[in-house]
Amino acid sequence: MKICDKIEDVRKQVKEWKKEGLTIGFVPTMGYLHEGHRSLMEAARKENDKVVVSIFVNPMQFGPTEDLDSYPRDLDKDAVLCEGVGVDLIFHPEPQEMYPEGFCSYVDMNGLTTELCGKTRPTHFRGVQTVVLKLFHIVTPDNAYFGQKDAQQLAVIRRMVKDLSLDVTIHGCPIVREEDGLAKSSRNTYLNEKERKAALILSQSLAVGKELIASGETDASRIKQAIADKIATEPLARIDYVDVVDFDTITPVDTISGSTLVAIAVYIGKTRLIDNFIL
Ligand code: PAF
Repeated sequence: MKICDKIEDVRKQVKEWKKEGLTIGFVPTMGYLHEGHRSLMEAARKENDKVVVSIFVNPMQFGPTEDLDSYPRDLDKDAVLCEGVGVDLIFHPEPQEMYPEGFCSYVDMNGLTTELCGKTRPTHFRGVQTVVLKLFHIVTPDNAYFGQKDAQQLAVIRRMVKDLSLDVTIHGCPIVREEDGLAKSSRNTYLNEKERKAALILSQSLAVGKELIASGETDASRIKQAIADKIATEPLARIDYVDVVDFDTITPVDTISGSTLVAIAVYIGKTRLIDNFIL
């Protein structure tokens, strides 16, 4: 497995593979890899000749008061996990390599990014789209893999690929959970023991929403209220949002029909966690 920190080196390797007619699967990450990332890499491994993983804590997608500096990093451990899955190349650039002096071009979107996480993180998706487009240009993958835990991100990337006619197929992969139901996330590492227990309220409240829907409820406001009421039973939890939106357009819906995303963001202490399910 190769580890490259320069764009030019990735391009050289990818060109050689393409000359041989090999397909490339790509998993963009910010590192501190866990089972969720592993599932993306395994999907990429199964469906492509070569697998590239990027590990880059992208400063552009963090707001000024967010956790860029404290975001967990462990390249050595990540490399072991990648090697174990059979990844062929890790791209691990420095911020200066991705955003050299004078950088001033961005990818932005009018729809999809104003609801859910976009409300409290207004510049987040601009940072995600810009870095993902750059990474797509560098790696030129046939297939790229994203987790459904970041459902809004998945919808945004799908829209960007369609709108900008990018020649890559986007694969959304299911959420991977701890045994007790907590969705895997690099940010779970911020939680102390008490908070870790309290964080179960995310999956538990979504289960309440799911049950209600299974019992025939289609009114989005009643489903949101039931989820919010359950979250309110946990003293360490503070709701950022509980929303029901159309999964393709990320616009609020009044009634559940077609592909609907039920998504929540909840602060447990200072840690903001997200979770969701798609109908
Ligand atoms: O999901 C992530 O880890 C990041 O948002 C991504 C897609 C790697 C872009 O920095």
